[in-house]
Amino acid sequence: MIFDTHSHYTDEQFDSDLDELLTSINKNGVTEIITCGTDIESSKACITLAEKYPFIYAAIGYHPEELTRVDVDINALKGLLHEKVVAIGEIGLDYYWNKENKEKQKQGFIAQLNLAKEINLPVIIHDREAHGDTLEILKQHKPSGVLHCFSGSCEMAQEVLKLGMYIGVGGVATFKNAKCLPEVISLLPLERLLLETDAPYLAPVPFRGKRNDSSLIPYIAERIGDIKGISAEKVLKTARENAYRLFLEKN
Ligand code: NI
Repeated sequence: MIFDTHSHYTDEQFDSDLDELLTSINKNGVTEIITCGTDIESSKACITLAEKYPFIYAAIGYHPEELTRVDVDINALKGLLHEKVVAIGEIGLDYYWNKENKEKQKQGFIAQLNLAKEINLPVIIHDREAHGDTLEILKQHKPSGVLHCFSGSCEMAQEVLKLGMYIGVGGVATFKNAKCLPEVISLLPLERLLLETDAPYLAPVPFRGKRNDSSLIPYIAERIGDIKGISAEKVLKTARENAYRLFLEKN
């Protein structure tokens, strides 16, 4: 029972065989997938995919990398709201790809956090080399949601947990250069863990560098189980329950 909380099935890397892949993915244990938009066009495409497949849900939003090209249009996002839209994402800050437009990134991030609060949806957050500003904004706005592909320190993880948020772990956990991620995983209560792929990116070892998809999540669960001294099944089951609580059980 695999719930992939973060993927990009509208990426062109899936163009040639997307339907083939998705119609057979349940056979590999995948029961739910959230596919994330990065701008209006891809958010629309995510919704189309969610309409076609009952086990797919959509997140809509502007990824910080896109803000070099476009401006955040909150009304356009509101216009996309749909019963299969379960989160605003992926949104956040990325100072790895772009340091020149920090103010614009922060404004776009905050505007989308406010939208999520207004319409009572959780957020899926991207933070790459922007830990300080991300944490400061999260402390101010206290969203409900997840820090996807968590790459911060143990101290940052503690702060994020104090805010009641979840931590998303993907293929990086299986990489040799995962830095302090194993320590973060060992301190992370299982009830705050979400599993994710970021497909087509970040395939776990032994598929590193290849195209990723949701059926590879057991490799990530195995690694997390090893670190925490529990079975991969327990990791998969609890992470799925967590994802239901955050994204699918409406309060
Ligand atoms: Ni992503």
